[in-house]
Amino acid sequence: MTRTRIFSGVKPTGHLTLGNYLGAVRQWVREDQHRADALFCVVDLHALTVEHDPARVRRLSRQAATLLLASGLDPRLCTLFVQSHVDEHTRLSYLLECTATDGEMRRMIQYKEKTARERARGGSVRLSLLTYPVLMAADILAYGAHEVPVGDDQTQHVELTRDLAVRFNQRYGQVFTVPRATRPSVAARVMDLQDPTSKMGKSHADTAGIVYLLDEPDVVRRKVLRAVTDSGTSVEYDPEGRPGVANLLEVLAACSGGGRPEELAAEYDSYGALKKDTAEAVVEVLRPVRERHAELVADPSYVDGVLRAGAERARGLARPLVDRAHEAVGLLPPL
Ligand code: AMP
Ligand code: TRP
Repeated sequence: MTRTRIFSGVKPTGHLTLGNYLGAVRQWVREDQHRADALFCVVDLHALTVEHDPARVRRLSRQAATLLLASGLDPRLCTLFVQSHVDEHTRLSYLLECTATDGEMRRMIQYKEKTARERARGGSVRLSLLTYPVLMAADILAYGAHEVPVGDDQTQHVELTRDLAVRFNQRYGQVFTVPRATRPSVAARVMDLQDPTSKMGKSHADTAGIVYLLDEPDVVRRKVLRAVTDSGTSVEYDPEGRPGVANLLEVLAACSGGGRPEELAAEYDSYGALKKDTAEAVVEVLRPVRERHAELVADPSYVDGVLRAGAERARGLARPLVDRAHEAVGLLPPL
């Protein structure tokens, strides 16, 4: 039996948040890298789909890789690399553009939301934002991944990846593995502390409701204590009616490991106490990550070495599969 292969990625469009950590990274660290052949990728090409500053993208890519290691990814167990270091992603992406339809792309929720926001500001939208889910599909399919551990917001993109894999295989013969999304049982969608109806996203302009992995303990406490709650006073887990309190309960459950959000609700009779315990639980979860990050920053050649070896392994895995896809669609193999 072949070993399960896992692929996931994180975009260097901003500093990593508690949402990235609880929704994705922690599961990679605790479970995925131990039970499967897991590849984790800093997907820097995806950061170019929106207006970007080249120096910042470069800095954030390195920081993301360093933070993934600081969070506990172990290069002896898994493969960590940077997307643009492996040409097969863009090589395969074009073939998948020839498999997908434009209507399919325009139906992607993230695309619709981001274009609406951008157009409202009178801005333009890069073509790559439309085709971005195809590149994401290429990221996954190039490695024959079986599982894709992601937060809630990526489910639709993984569904598209499945559709493209099935369609390609039907048209041109069996080349791709059809992957499936996996998600954490709690905190699959951490909400913004100031706006609990929208996702805690790393590139939002207003940072008051976003906890970054590198925030100092006092900053974390301030952000959590100032979280917007709801007009009620009793603590209940009701994501629809009381999204602010539900979000705090989810974060507390995920960080304390002390039970389900529904059960935790019963232990509190005030919002103040809930916020205080949540703040401390988050501070404790982030403490070792910050400490390890500081050590790794002092040793950049270690991080470079990990990324170099990671890219080399990734290339070796993707190359034959992407070659096969090229051949299957009718391209003449190099002579
Ligand atoms: P991104 O920051 O968009 O590159 O996302 C990297 C990973 O973190 C993806 O698996 C996302 O689904 C996950 N993620 C991002 N933001 C959140 C959030 N607020 N809650 C849960 N998961 C998230
Ligand atoms: N689109 C993902 C996000 O915004 C990042 C990503 C790119 C990804 N390629 C991927 C995630 C492949 C999983 C697998 O979060």
